[in-house]
Amino acid sequence: MKKPPQLILAIDTSCDDTSVAITCGPYVLSNVIASQTELHRQYGGVFPTVAKQAHKENIAPTVLAALKRAGVTWEDMQAIAVTQGPGLAPALEVGIMCAKQLASEHKLPVIPINHLEGHLFSVLARPKPGGTPWQQLGSALSNVSNALGIIVSGGHTLFVQVQRIGEYTTLGQTLDDAAGECLDKIGRMLNLGYPAGPIIEQFAKLGDPKVITFPLPLTTIKTYDLSFSGLKTSARNLLEENGTTKVLQKQELYDFCASIQYSVFRHITYKLGKVLADHSFAQIWLGGGVAANATLRRMIRETIRVHATQVIDPKLRVPYSKKLCMDNAAMIGVVASFKQAQQSNDKQIERRPRWGLGEN
Ligand code: KG4
Ligand code: ZN
Repeated sequence: MKKPPQLILAIDTSCDDTSVAITCGPYVLSNVIASQTELHRQYGGVFPTVAKQAHKENIAPTVLAALKRAGVTWEDMQAIAVTQGPGLAPALEVGIMCAKQLASEHKLPVIPINHLEGHLFSVLARPKPGGTPWQQLGSALSNVSNALGIIVSGGHTLFVQVQRIGEYTTLGQTLDDAAGECLDKIGRMLNLGYPAGPIIEQFAKLGDPKVITFPLPLTTIKTYDLSFSGLKTSARNLLEENGTTKVLQKQELYDFCASIQYSVFRHITYKLGKVLADHSFAQIWLGGGVAANATLRRMIRETIRVHATQVIDPKLRVPYSKKLCMDNAAMIGVVASFKQAQQSNDKQIERRPRWGLGEN
């Protein structure tokens, strides 16, 4: 008998966005994000206690909106997935409390999910085919093996080898700021508002990336680790004169944005080149807020092409929408489906000769 598809209500409150999604296997039925960007703009970054309060106010209406937009009810739900970390502790707490409360009210299991796993698996999310009722979707989960995950967000920047769901090796990561954080901090120096990454992308389109040459970090160490704080300091040194920030003319600002964006991404692709020279992957996955940037995608594709051989020519996979790049709950729901599928497979496959009564 065909198994009915599993509907999951997923919650992510790891940072400054309250998000609730309904997913069915890899399919996204709804992905509602109540953004707090306006609230945090005045601080030029995320303020944890303000985030917690806003999550508390937003969570219940966001749950309702996600159910309504997906056209489903609590009776249809099979599980609740929630981000357990990493993230801001006060913000995470709101999502976890809400998940526990809803789980006990509706007698559903809670699946705790790692936020970074969410960013990794965001590339596997699929839009629900229009006109198909969710009951007919099935759970078309792709096979996962030997992918390189690149996460570039406001909180993280890392290269991860994905052997299979739940089996990861971090190959390299930032030793200080994340790539998005670096762009946001430089944007703050330029008075661009928060978050600055998307604004820098727009301004960079009007500028020349060759006008300013920033240093390429960590070229002398052999690891795949990254560092963005030196680029931030170089930007500050160029912008500040005698303790005050220079006012740039329009074209100077565009050229500055194009140059710093190029330098941040060149650092990522330089290290990616090293990873690809030493390892081979079936696929390359790009996730996180900065993955929405078209220039980064182009530069990564070029780097992959340079390292491709006749035998090894991995495809770059990116999330199907920009919403899936940023913090969102749909990616959490997708990981939960993979975990559920793996658990039921594992139960059939793995032998446990010493399995005592009562052991999980
Ligand atoms: O994934 P995300 O929403 O939150 C974290 O998990 O951190 O990422 C937010 C980051 C911010 O630093 C923002 O400036 C950056 O992603 N970002 C971008 C773009 N869109 C968002 N950076 C460059 N280009 C973009 N288009
Ligand atoms: Zn994130």
